[in-house]
Amino acid sequence: MGLMTWSKELSVGHEGIDSQHQELINYINELHDAMKAGKGDAIMAPILDCLLDYTVNHFGFEEKLMKASAYPGATAHLEEHRKLKKEVFAFQENFKAKKMMITMDLMKFLKDWLLSHILKVDKEFAKHLASKGMAA
Ligand SMILES: [Fe+2]
Ligand SMILES: [Fe+2]
Repeated sequence: MGLMTWSKELSVGHEGIDSQHQELINYINELHDAMKAGKGDAIMAPILDCLLDYTVNHFGFEEKLMKASAYPGATAHLEEHRKLKKEVFAFQENFKAKKMMITMDLMKFLKDWLLSHILKVDKEFAKHLASKGMAA
């Protein structure tokens, strides 16, 4: 049983963004399942790497669209992305140095961050894209 489930309520109405969010949820669930199954760091490290890679690419995708659509809320949105990246990269470093473990607290943090970011920040941005006729 995954930690997160995709639902219509999470749709921002932009196909590309929605499918990337679904993929992020898949990675989070994969990491959660591995943790629950007591998998070792050697199994979890590449999943964490993939999740972070995908997150960075996803943020980049949104940020390109912000530029292309002259989004007035870009600065605040970018700041949310920047803060999250900073935190997860710090975690990744500590995890690789065996100073931190993947815990339920971390999983909850990722889940809550993603849910609140999609529902507030990304939805707001997608509304802007739709208003510019860019909701593809
Ligand atoms: Fe975003
Ligand atoms: Fe997003």
